[in-house]
Amino acid sequence: MPSQIEEIKQRLDLVDLIKEYIQLKPAGLNFKARCPFHNEKTPSFMVSPEKQIWHCFGCGSGGDHFEFIKKLEGIEFVEALRILADKAGVKLDYHNPEVHSRRTKLLDLCDAAASFWQQKLKTDKEAELVRKYLAGRGVADQTIDDFILGYSPDSWDETIKHLQNKGYSLLEIGQAGLSVIGKQGKPFDRFRGRLIFPIRNVHGQTVGFGARKMKEDDQGGKYVNSPQTEFYNKSDILYNLDQAKAEIKRLDYVILVEGYMDVLACHQAGTKNVVAVSGTSLTQGQINILKRYTENVMIAFDADVAGTLANLRGIDLAWRAGLNVKVIHLPAGQDPDDLIRQDKDQWRELVLKSENFMDYIFAVTLAGLDLTRVDHKKKAAQQLLKVISQLGDEVETAHFVQKLAGDLAIAEEPLRSKLMEIKSKNTGSQSTGPAGQAAPLTKTINHEEVLGERLLVLLFKFPGQIGVISQKIDPEFLGQPWLEEVYKKLIIYYNKNQSFDFKTFISEFPKERENFLNKLALLAEADELADDPVVLKQEFGLLVLRIKQNHRDKKTKILIQQIAQAEREHNHEKMNQLSQDYSQLISQSIE
Ligand code: UTP
Ligand code: MN
Repeated sequence: MPSQIEEIKQRLDLVDLIKEYIQLKPAGLNFKARCPFHNEKTPSFMVSPEKQIWHCFGCGSGGDHFEFIKKLEGIEFVEALRILADKAGVKLDYHNPEVHSRRTKLLDLCDAAASFWQQKLKTDKEAELVRKYLAGRGVADQTIDDFILGYSPDSWDETIKHLQNKGYSLLEIGQAGLSVIGKQGKPFDRFRGRLIFPIRNVHGQTVGFGARKMKEDDQGGKYVNSPQTEFYNKSDILYNLDQAKAEIKRLDYVILVEGYMDVLACHQAGTKNVVAVSGTSLTQGQINILKRYTENVMIAFDADVAGTLANLRGIDLAWRAGLNVKVIHLPAGQDPDDLIRQDKDQWRELVLKSENFMDYIFAVTLAGLDLTRVDHKKKAAQQLLKVISQLGDEVETAHFVQKLAGDLAIAEEPLRSKLMEIKSKNTGSQSTGPAGQAAPLTKTINHEEVLGERLLVLLFKFPGQIGVISQKIDPEFLGQPWLEEVYKKLIIYYNKNQSFDFKTFISEFPKERENFLNKLALLAEADELADDPVVLKQEFGLLVLRIKQNHRDKKTKILIQQIAQAEREHNHEKMNQLSQDYSQLISQSIE
């Protein structure tokens, strides 16, 4: 093994290796970059080609090839060894127990499942309908291979049986997220009769799966995805980043799409710098990863979805993180896949014509308004000034105030004073993001806090929902003691009075809570969500799901840490117990 470690290092130039993950610039004899391990504005991360070591003068970390990969992904030595051996073309001796760990076994398991399903898609008679489906959607064989698409058989346990035959235990299959525990405690296949999209991390390791419904009688959602596991955390994964990263760096921008199919279509049309967020909002974790490769992000989300201020899906996070954000203006109701199938050239043209984020926001906000009407002018000013108030740069701010004045055909002065008003409100309480949700600019947004606050705000606004929601969300799900307290009291208060009056409610709290409660009440007043049963059901439904997911993800992460701890202590009994809890937890359905 030591000789293999040396061999790997000799074959892989450290500068080339690190360049794959971050932007390195020459600096004399060395190379430098902004350190990927701590937040900094000026580069203090250095790589020496001659010594083949790296060091950060800012945070003091440093080391060789192995240290870099380990630290970048928070992984153990064996896993780094495998990744680097693969890159260097060095064949490891897999009989050597030192090249195995519990985690690498689970990763191997995911690979085995992907191969099994790939084979099924290619040859199985049952998969004929899926092959036809893909052909019908214009997905080429080469694309099917590039993305290792597969078909999971329509069976309760065929995949589990196959993996057991390959030497994996039920516990391991559960830990990799591939089984679900039934009511009687018996595990069954999580993905049944579905088109499989393996999801790989940035190193190209298969860590999870997305599975699209193929049959009418399938009762599940359109997509079923892997649950949070030790190595699959949906908020840190960007689909296709492993294949796209070189092109992202070469072109110095990335195109963000929503779905797996959009990535496939773009890839096939020759646009290779594309990654997907997979249906969720863009997260801070994903933004941090993207920032390693480029500062320029182009969004190609469905116009219906991205096109409203209330629904920015994390785009605002990217723009606040200092990335240059542009928006590809898709025809209404179309995603990139639809468009490419219809007209590849138009897609390329729209990419070239992508608009600055702020210009885009202006366009979509003003589109629905009649600017000859004074009430519409007021509305436009109110909405756009809210967004402008979030800009950090003064020149930019001045530019957009001027533009707004021009568009509304009014003087700049009233807009400026209104802006000051909004800004002072922002700093007084927490600032209000463009999405109308509490979203402080300076500190990193605590996702959990945002979800809990949003729930309370909506319950203040629509107290009639308190009964239903309290059945679905336990106070502890909110995760933050003060949110839990307000939520608990709100339920008790409502049950007692069968109505909600903010003034009497607030009197039940100590003085120091008043500011916080007033802020929530203000947000509730300012909220524009329509009092429509369909809208409410959708909005509350999504919120409930997110809160439950967040709660489970948190519990999962804690368990993972405890497992790792038990592993370090060689406490096998404890490890087994925890592993079972873990497998149980991720196998439960939360819908
Ligand atoms: P879409 O509903 O836009 O699907 O969801 P799509 O990717 O365009 O698929 P086709 O074209 O209808 O076949 C976009 C993405 O959101 C995630 C998936 O990652 C999907 O690709 N998603 C969607 C889920 O995770 N679960 C769902 O139930 C739906
Ligand atoms: Mn689609």
